[in-house]
Amino acid sequence: MEAEITLVVDGIEHRLTVDTRTTVLDALRERLGITSPKKGCDHGQCGACTLLLGDRRVNSCLMLAVAFDGAEFRTADGLAGADLHPVQRAFIEHDAFQCGYCTPGQVVSAVGVLCEMHDGEPSAVTPDGAGLDDEIRERMSGNLCRCGAYANIVPAIAEVAQ
Ligand code: FES
Repeated sequence: MEAEITLVVDGIEHRLTVDTRTTVLDALRERLGITSPKKGCDHGQCGACTLLLGDRRVNSCLMLAVAFDGAEFRTADGLAGADLHPVQRAFIEHDAFQCGYCTPGQVVSAVGVLCEMHDGEPSAVTPDGAGLDDEIRERMSGNLCRCGAYANIVPAIAEVAQ
């Protein structure tokens, strides 16, 4: 069974016909040619496919595209304006990647984490910043890096968070 849907990705509206079993991740990658969201596990366990739905982080491999007709998503491609997003710049400055496969998902997730923290979600971070690294590790635990670049990812995010 097929359905005609609209997905807004990084501010651009796309009208497409999809099989009703198509995930948002497959719609983006295979139908729209938007390949920065990666398919790692395809089971909601690695975070490589992370998108922002509003300010909320979502695993696009777990979402049926038909259920998100009209939704607006942001990918790593859409984070930059005239200049790189501060998180993107911090990842470069801290060398926070090796192979880079997980990086778009890490960056998108980090932007979501910063939104969560700035929105006043309960946090163990003290006013002087103690506990920030642990908080970032906990909140980013859904994004796996098989190269093990966490030692650089955490300080990159912490720099933007401070
Ligand atoms: Fe979606 Fe791994 S590909 S969480």
